[in-house]
Amino acid sequence: MWVTVALVVVLIALIWRYTGRPKGLPPGPTCYPFIGNVGLFKPSDAVQANRKLRKQYGDIYTVMFFHKPMITVHGYDNIRELLVKNVDMFLERPITIINGVFNKGKGLMWSSGPVWEEHRAFALTTMKKLGFGKHSLQGQIMEEVDCLMDEVDKFENKPFDIHHALNTAVSNVICSLLFGKRFDHDDTKFKNLIKLLNKMFASTNPSSPAFVFPLLRFLPGSGFHNMEKSFRDIDAFTKEIIEEHRRHFDENNINDYVDGFLFEQTQKKNSTFTDEQLIISVREFFGAGTETTATTLRWAVLFLIHHPEWQRKLREDIDALLAQSHPKMEHKEQLPRVEAFILEVQRHANIAPFAIPRAPKKDFCYNGYNFPKGICVCFALDSVLMDPDIFPEPSKFKPERFLDKDGKCTGEPKEKLIPFSTGQRSCVGEYLAKMELFLFVTRFLQKFELKPENSNCLPSLEPVLGLTNQPKPFNVILVKR
Ligand code: HEM
Repeated sequence: MWVTVALVVVLIALIWRYTGRPKGLPPGPTCYPFIGNVGLFKPSDAVQANRKLRKQYGDIYTVMFFHKPMITVHGYDNIRELLVKNVDMFLERPITIINGVFNKGKGLMWSSGPVWEEHRAFALTTMKKLGFGKHSLQGQIMEEVDCLMDEVDKFENKPFDIHHALNTAVSNVICSLLFGKRFDHDDTKFKNLIKLLNKMFASTNPSSPAFVFPLLRFLPGSGFHNMEKSFRDIDAFTKEIIEEHRRHFDENNINDYVDGFLFEQTQKKNSTFTDEQLIISVREFFGAGTETTATTLRWAVLFLIHHPEWQRKLREDIDALLAQSHPKMEHKEQLPRVEAFILEVQRHANIAPFAIPRAPKKDFCYNGYNFPKGICVCFALDSVLMDPDIFPEPSKFKPERFLDKDGKCTGEPKEKLIPFSTGQRSCVGEYLAKMELFLFVTRFLQKFELKPENSNCLPSLEPVLGLTNQPKPFNVILVKR
């Protein structure tokens, strides 16, 4: 009997030791044997829970998912210090269900080391050749904006959910760059693909234990089986398009990202430019390029409904400068209140509250804490976007915080707003997203007045956290001007 008791005690001590928080890591909540801190908070409550943990343990703390530690870093200065000043140290991603199981180290968004370096450089050069980072891209964006206006025209004066129309329009911009083609708003196959993407973004949460323990994805409600299915379906869709491109490939006529990649394949045999790498990168661009910008635009619609006084101000400026002529990026500087409104939407929407996790490439020490090589480190962009020292009264919607005394959109709040993250591995689509946000919002205000379905009960501003922070479904009424 005593032997059994002794064995159980030793076993518990061993489990405790090997599943507890390793020495030297930042502090954190008490760990329990085997599970660590699993169950400490619901993945959907991760934003509030991490704000609370920060109050208890400071700007940098550790949470244990079973025996796997995850460090979270808060505050503008810490994030800048680690992602900008120590840029070389934090360019990698930790191993998670996405890169470890689904992507097997390939792709761009979730890859690390030489694969990431080569494909980030390739993506940037190719996209630049195709108009990325140049104003010429705005022709393509404006075409989509106009198609969107025609599409939503059908719902004039009737309450409707604008979610799908916005997603299709934004997705078409990225599809033009990737495949050189766009899809009709009624295309059933494309419609289903976008729905799948929505479902994946809504039901998957990186704060879930299944993110670092892939076997848990089979548990009901983990959401990651949706992700796997979406990946398979998007990949099947992409494969067809790639095969079509291969059949018509002409190295003197490189029109889109897929062509650019196929050209690289002909130049570099036995390289990382494989078919699988192409399929995964395209899927990542498709997902990231659609959901993030479209979700931000949905938040913009919601804030316009909540703030008719801002609709009036922005429309005054737009009407005075453009009347009904098409907006162009050159007009952005002359419309500082529009820019300030969009920045405030991005700040409030807080769509990527923890960015995408990074991992140090070797053991690293910061502020007296160990950051072991490969550990999962989350950078809480939420702590910057909601920082009362940078953005006083952060819970209030105040676009005027981005305007200086002369009414120009400049200054510290704008410089410190980092919804696209910061440093060398920040969002690759930042320039495109900013163009889309400006052109879509400006054209919308020129064409329509946005009204709530019920002015006595405005739609909720409470976000729902999945892969991104999303608004709850809501209806809008568009009245033609
Ligand atoms: C409002 C819109 C957007 C927001 C708020 C946003 C935000 C972000 C954030 C926070 C990251 C993580 C960066 C990090 O690791 O620190 C990221 C990465 C990324 N984004 Fe975006 N994004 C947006 C639009 C786009 C668009 C339009 C594209 C497509 C062209 C895109 C493609 C990517 C890719 C490929 C990465 C991975 C970059 C890498 O790992 O090197 N994003 N984005």
